[in-house]
Amino acid sequence: MKRVLVVGGALLLGMGAVWAQQDSVKEVQTLMKGNGKNAGAVAAIVKGEKPYDQATVDTALAQFEETSKKLPNLFPASAKGMKPEGDYSASPKIWEDKAGFDAKAAGFGKVVSEAKGKIKDLDSLKATFPAIGKECGGCHETFRVKNG
Ligand code: HEC
Repeated sequence: MKRVLVVGGALLLGMGAVWAQQDSVKEVQTLMKGNGKNAGAVAAIVKGEKPYDQATVDTALAQFEETSKKLPNLFPASAKGMKPEGDYSASPKIWEDKAGFDAKAAGFGKVVSEAKGKIKDLDSLKATFPAIGKECGGCHETFRVKNG
């Protein structure tokens, strides 16, 4: 009886860990999809496809900032090596060099918060936005891998 309980408990724990992994992977992907959508909306303004819109810019910056704060906590040890659905997944380097990854997330957050008060019109957007894009790419280059 005791053994059954122990096994049952271990199973439950195991299932909890799987759920936690899937939740954090999902949350990363949801955040990044939001990043992609917001970056796309801002890029359309930069390219002149859409008129300048402060709300679009502010929404994007707020979401990027939120992402930078959450990212360091979304890669629990148990989620290493998970192959999520979708086009991309997290590189094992996130776990192998957690300090480097956290530094990238912090650097991204810093560039975003510095940009916050500065972007007021198309010219300041054009001057500031490339630095943010560089942060996205800089992290992806090392810490993101393409599936398949
Ligand atoms: C500190 C690291 C880091 C930064 C900064 C970062 N990303 Fe990502 N991004 C990742 C990782 C890791 C993944 C892969 C996660 C996964 O798919 O499980 C990812 C995935 C993505 C994806 C694919 C999502 C999907 O699964 O479809 C998009 C789009 C994306 N990022 C956009 C952005 C944009 C835009 C920015 C900047 C505004 C940005 N990211 C900044 C780490 C980062």
